[in-house]
Amino acid sequence: MTDRWTKSRVLLARAEKSLPRGVNSGVRATCPLPLYFEDSWGCHVKDVDGNQYIDYSLAWGPLILGHRHPKIVEAVRREAGRAHIYGAQHELEIQVAEKVQALVPCAENVVFASSGTEAVQLALRLARAFTRRNLVVKFEGHYHGWVDSVLVSNHPTAEEAGDAHKPKAVLGSLGQVPNACDNLIVMPWNDPGVLSDLFRQRGQEIAAVILEPVLCNSGCLLPDPGYLEVIRDLCSQSGALLIFDEVITGFRLSLGGAQEFFKVKPDIATFGKALAGGATLSAVAARRDVFDLVLDGRVVFGGTYNGNPIALASALATIEELSLGGGSLLQQTDRMGQRLMSGIRDAASRHGLPLIVSGFGAAFALHFTAKRDLRNYRDTLQDDPHRLREYVFRALAEGLYVLPDGRMYVSAVHHEEDIEETLRAFDRIFSGLADRTRPRV
Ligand SMILES: Cc1ncc(COP(=O)(O)O)c(C=O)c1O
Repeated sequence: MTDRWTKSRVLLARAEKSLPRGVNSGVRATCPLPLYFEDSWGCHVKDVDGNQYIDYSLAWGPLILGHRHPKIVEAVRREAGRAHIYGAQHELEIQVAEKVQALVPCAENVVFASSGTEAVQLALRLARAFTRRNLVVKFEGHYHGWVDSVLVSNHPTAEEAGDAHKPKAVLGSLGQVPNACDNLIVMPWNDPGVLSDLFRQRGQEIAAVILEPVLCNSGCLLPDPGYLEVIRDLCSQSGALLIFDEVITGFRLSLGGAQEFFKVKPDIATFGKALAGGATLSAVAARRDVFDLVLDGRVVFGGTYNGNPIALASALATIEELSLGGGSLLQQTDRMGQRLMSGIRDAASRHGLPLIVSGFGAAFALHFTAKRDLRNYRDTLQDDPHRLREYVFRALAEGLYVLPDGRMYVSAVHHEEDIEETLRAFDRIFSGLADRTRPRV
C-alpha cells in the first residue's frame, strides 16, 4: 500500500519477523498504524516518511518538558561523561531524594527503581509486610503495571466483570497465576457506599487500597469531590495503608502530585513517567516507619539499575526546571491543556458530535459517547470504539500524534501557536467524522 506512511509500513512488516507483533509493548500495537520515528524536538516528532506531528502522546506520559529539553540533554550528557552506572551510591541519589522529599507530602523517605511496575510491586510488598495482612483493594479500570499480582480488572468487558456495583476480579492476561485474583478485591470507582460496606465487613483483613487518584488509564476520570477523603478515612480507621499510584499524576497534576492537589496524604505513593522527563526512573515515597522494614532487611527490594546516575541526572534537571517560579511551568501546561479541552468541546458541538472531554489540563481524554457524565470505568464502556479509531487515524493524517485510547498529554513546551494549530486541525477532523456519520440520502 502506498500512502503517506509507506516507510513505516515497510519497517513494521520487517519488525514483525523479529519482534512479536512488531512492537515492544502491547498497547503500541493498538495504534491504527504503529509508526516509526526518526526525530523529535520540543512538542514535535517526525516519522520515517518525513511526516511531522504535534506530539500529544509524550511517549505515553514521561515527556513533561517535551523532547530533548536543553537542560535535560545537558545534564544527561554531563553525567554520561562521568558514569553510566555504578551499582553503588552517588550524590545524585540524595539530591533527587531530597527534592522529592521537599515536594511530595507523603515522602518521608524515597527509593528509586526503573519502571512504574517495579515501584508498584514494592509498594504492595511494603503494605502487606507492614500490616501483616494480605488483601489489597483496587478499582475497576485502574492500571498499576503488568505484574501478575495487580494486573486484574484493568480493562475487563462488562460480561466478564458482572455486576457494576460488585465487580468480579478479572485476570488481565493469559499466563498469569490464577490466584492473583484471590489476593485482590475489585471495587467500582467513585462509589463510597460500596467501599464503606466492604470496610465494615472485611476492614481488618485489608492491607492496602491502591488507586490512580485521577483514573488516567480509563479515560482520565476525576475523583468525585470528597471521595479520596472517604477512602483516606476508611484506611486510617481500619489500619490499612493508602497507596496513591502517581505514575501519571506525579510531577504533572502539580509538583507535589495528586496528593498535594487534592490535599489527601497517602501512606505510600509511586512515581514514574514525568519524574525523570523521559529517562528510565521510578520512585516509591512513603512514611518512614513503613520504610523501616526495608531498612532492617525484612522487606526485600532489589534492582541492578536502581539509582541509575543518568536517569537521576535527567530527573534532577526535570524537577529543577519544573520548580522554577514556584511551579509556573505546570500552571502554564494546565492553562494550555484547559484551552485545548474547551476548544475540542466547542469543535465537537459545532459539528454535532457527541463528545465528553475529561481530565485535567496536562492529561485528558476524548470520549465519543452519548452519555452526559462519566464517573467510572463502566460508564466508559459505552464509548464508541469505531469512532475513536477513525478519529485517531484522521488525527494522524492531520499531523497530530495522539494515543489510541483517546488520551492526550500536554507538555510544558506546547505553546499558544501549537494549541491554535491543533484546534484548526480538530475542526477538520470533526468535520470529516461528522460527514461520515451523517445519514446518506
Ligand atoms: C498509573 C500507572 N501505574 C503504573 C504503571 C506502570 O508503569 P511502567 O509502564 O513504567 O512499568 C503505569 C504505566 O502506564 C501507570 O499508568
